[in-house]
Amino acid sequence: MGLDFAPMEGITSREFRETHAACFAGVERYWLPFLSPTSVHQLTPRQKRDLEPGPLGCGRLVPQVLTREPEDFLWAAQALGELGYGEVNLNLGCPSGTVVSKGRGAAMLRDPAALDRFLDAVFARTPLPISLKTRVGLESPEEWEGLLPVLARYPVRELTLHPRTRRELYRGGVHPETVRRALELLPYPLRYNGNLFTPGGVGRLEAACPGLSGIMVGRGLLADPALAARCQGGCRERRALVDFHETLAERYLSFMHPDAAVLPKFKELWAYLALLLADGKPWKRLRKCTRWTEFHSLALNLLQNAALLEEAEFSRIDQYECW
Ligand SMILES: Cc1cc2nc3c(=O)[nH]c(=O)nc-3n(C[C@H](O)[C@H](O)[C@H](O)COP(=O)(O)O)c2cc1C
Repeated sequence: MGLDFAPMEGITSREFRETHAACFAGVERYWLPFLSPTSVHQLTPRQKRDLEPGPLGCGRLVPQVLTREPEDFLWAAQALGELGYGEVNLNLGCPSGTVVSKGRGAAMLRDPAALDRFLDAVFARTPLPISLKTRVGLESPEEWEGLLPVLARYPVRELTLHPRTRRELYRGGVHPETVRRALELLPYPLRYNGNLFTPGGVGRLEAACPGLSGIMVGRGLLADPALAARCQGGCRERRALVDFHETLAERYLSFMHPDAAVLPKFKELWAYLALLLADGKPWKRLRKCTRWTEFHSLALNLLQNAALLEEAEFSRIDQYECW
């Protein structure tokens, strides 16, 4: 089953995607964090840089749009088509308070009739095939039964399901029965996403749901960047981890401030990478660093010399594999 790298706003930047692909095998496609168009209908220089297909090419990238306005979605789809992309993904799952309070992301699941009207408007005029990424509801997984008939009505290229509600954010178990219902009722490909952290977990999901078109992994790949390769029988090489870390740092340092910008980005990444360390204590020291140079020498030394676990220990952040 093909494995895609999930979109993660603030983390899976163009620099991150290209560096990961150069250092590790196994990921089929990389998803871009959401593009949130405004009514101005113009890409900012920063958005343009992130959307540039670069060496991966459009075939291995999936751009995503977050909006509740059909006209803004259609403009973004047109702009993405002009950049060469062959698909646009609509975000129906983002749980963040600022997104939901504006009626976007997971908030679009609140009212199935309003969602139907939105989908009707965009599918009627889209210049590109549309895929969807969604949760099973806002407050309760029971909402999924009311959403499925609406979602099933449109010629969706593929739907990626994170089987939790907005209320559940990324915590606790998932709702496996909602995946089975989607497989029964949706007349198009279904991709699974959520709490896949090990090759064993991926294998169990594949055995339980052979009808899936693919899987998507986010945090599992941040903690163990070699996870996709390991799912396909490869192994994790320390040299690749070091190369990945150092190349990503160099790329960010070429245009970002070391202490003000690169340091917080690497701390966010290390919150997951540290789950691979046999001894979790050095993470506390890393977290306290206020200078990039200090953080970098500690982090590099850990990657080169520290004992690493076979599997990242997500139980340290109260996350458990759901399959
Ligand atoms: C920091 C962060 C940023 C995210 N940004 C996006 C995003 O831009 N678009 C999106 O569809 N999902 C986003 N997600 C959700 C992930 O794509 C994914 O659905 C989630 O992490 C669950 O998958 P996992 O258990 O494999 O990590 C984000 C998640 C996190 C933790």
